[in-house]
Amino acid sequence: MENARSDALVLFGATGDLAYKKIFPALQAMIQDGKIDVPIIGVARGGKDVEYLRERVRDSLEKFGGGVDETAFAKLSDLLRNVDGDYQEESTFTRLRQVLDTAKRPLFYLAIPPTLFPAVVESLGKSGCASGGRVVVEKPFGHDLASAQDLNHTLRGVFEESAIFRIDHYLAKESIRNLLFFRFANSFLEPIWNRNYVESVQITMAEKFGVEGRGKFYEETGAIRDVVQNHLLQVAANLAMEPPVSAGGEAVRDERVKAFKGIRPLTGTSLVRGQFRGYREEPGVRPDSKTETFASMQIHIDSWRWEGVPFFIRTGKCLPVTATEVLVRLKQPPQRLFDSSRSESPNHIRFRLGPDRVVIALGAQVKQPGEQMTGEDIELYMCRQKGDEQGAYERLMSDAMEGDTSLFAREDGVEEAWRIVDPIVKMPTPIFEYAPGTWGPNEAQAAVANIGGWHNPTEEE
Ligand code: BG6
Repeated sequence: MENARSDALVLFGATGDLAYKKIFPALQAMIQDGKIDVPIIGVARGGKDVEYLRERVRDSLEKFGGGVDETAFAKLSDLLRNVDGDYQEESTFTRLRQVLDTAKRPLFYLAIPPTLFPAVVESLGKSGCASGGRVVVEKPFGHDLASAQDLNHTLRGVFEESAIFRIDHYLAKESIRNLLFFRFANSFLEPIWNRNYVESVQITMAEKFGVEGRGKFYEETGAIRDVVQNHLLQVAANLAMEPPVSAGGEAVRDERVKAFKGIRPLTGTSLVRGQFRGYREEPGVRPDSKTETFASMQIHIDSWRWEGVPFFIRTGKCLPVTATEVLVRLKQPPQRLFDSSRSESPNHIRFRLGPDRVVIALGAQVKQPGEQMTGEDIELYMCRQKGDEQGAYERLMSDAMEGDTSLFAREDGVEEAWRIVDPIVKMPTPIFEYAPGTWGPNEAQAAVANIGGWHNPTEEE
């Protein structure tokens, strides 16, 4: 069954936020691209019928799908079915089995809170729905190492690993795939991509907005669980990994997991946690909340390639811009012939990973025209493309329907990533307040003072 296409899509949480913002728009795009032509069964609680679901889909496409394509919408409406029922009740799954009819390889998308995963997965197993099927789960995969192991145990109790699709949408982003491509499609990078030439690596994921009504979720999560354990460690692994033996199958995932294995568990020494002023007044947030909306830290990679090269990670809400960027600073030239006062290296490779741009740029110095041998900093753009924000979900859902797991997080990878952050998510380190619209608490500057400071991405390219 491994590569046979799924013959039904079952969407748990069909009336929820994720379906509304991401999944319905992706379904419209899949229909436009001829990638789905099977029953789409929405499962939700609350006594809603299929007409309600159709209206919700229309609304979602207007707001998040770039508008309604009437032809695609008509097709989608036609494929849509509905099962109304409580996830805790057996009868819901009996009805689902009936609606699945002759489908033999359904794909179950769990767009529901993680606390409901065990009940739904077990009922899928007991009702016989899971047989021959696949399952998609969204992050967070657990809230620490032990709970991630429990979740994997639950999933593996019913589905084979090859039938489990754990979404970390960063892995499917055009920019992240380009990072991997750029590293391994070129020969000029390899000789310098190591401790001999690289001075430091920094990854910043900045968001201008706050928690946007997700206070209750965020309060239990915080920045480290929300984006460091998954998105940002995946970026770090793509930067640090060894060349995979091939581009397909498990080879890339194998190398990513190997890269995780080389990262030491975080000790908290370089960790700075911050909270933007005003967070505690957000709905769903405790008035004395200690949840971080900002985090910066250094990670240590124990490997032949990266020994001694510091990798820094920083993320935050309510920062000055929304941008994810990597800066790989190269070492200084052996002699500074022209400007001995310059402390920072003029050379870097910069990856802009979104939101609206994919950029790969090489920083260098050239001579300014004129008598003096004085230089100016320039950047050579090797790639400057529009982002592909909608594309990630469409790609992931199509791959899951096809049974291709390569852009998904694997069980061992998820657990390795938790191993790295597990000590700090439990550690009561101080929380520093920062003003919205700034680059987080001042304390975050000290750790990077000797590598030329943080590189702050700008809004425009
Ligand atoms: C999600 C986090 O996984 O990623 C959000 O829960 C974050 O807090 C989002 O805003 C960022 O994703 P993107 O694709 O907008 O960079």
